[in-house]
Amino acid sequence: MASKKIVVLISGSGSNLQALIDAEQKGELGCGKITLVVSNKKNAYGLTRASNASIPTFVQTLKQYKDAGKTREDFDRDLAQHIERTEAPDLLVLAGWMHILSPAFIDMFRGRIINLHPALPGELDGAHAIDRAYEEFKEGKRLSTGVMVHYVIPEVDKGKPIMTQVIPCVEGDTLEDLENRIHAVEHQILPRAVKQVLAGSGQTQ
Ligand code: GRF
Repeated sequence: MASKKIVVLISGSGSNLQALIDAEQKGELGCGKITLVVSNKKNAYGLTRASNASIPTFVQTLKQYKDAGKTREDFDRDLAQHIERTEAPDLLVLAGWMHILSPAFIDMFRGRIINLHPALPGELDGAHAIDRAYEEFKEGKRLSTGVMVHYVIPEVDKGKPIMTQVIPCVEGDTLEDLENRIHAVEHQILPRAVKQVLAGSGQTQ
């Protein structure tokens, strides 16, 4: 079977990218092959993970654009064009990508762009979802949180869910305990969701 091209977008540590790399190496991504890792941060450790796995990388920072007097829209348009021209990917995976993409970018990849978010659908949209879940737990307002992989639409963290998992908050948890539990689940769920989407058995966006 011909392989399907995956482009992974990261901004930081890239532990979820690593989970995808490991899954691919174990044959657990189905026909998926990571052909490019994109970062909007020069020093993202995920770039090292990609290089260690001999995956090409591409870095484009907003600072370069701002310094040149260009806009976020320019940034998004150029990035979308670069990705489409060089890869024509079957799937874009936002794995810790901390840059809100414009509708023009999303439209270009509509139906083939997915995001990992450390919260359940309809809860804790946007940044710092784990910290906010932990605060609510400490205040007695929640007993669990979760993780989802979902299709990307212009509304942040609102696209149709592909896979979700509830994660308990446990009495005595520190924030770090909760973070670790959430990340461990993310590392399981993301490769499974990618495989499912590539197999065409995911819900359509
Ligand atoms: C993950 O918790 C992801 O859900 C969130 O950012 C984090 C990225 O972690 N959006 P990493 O860079 O994959 O280690």
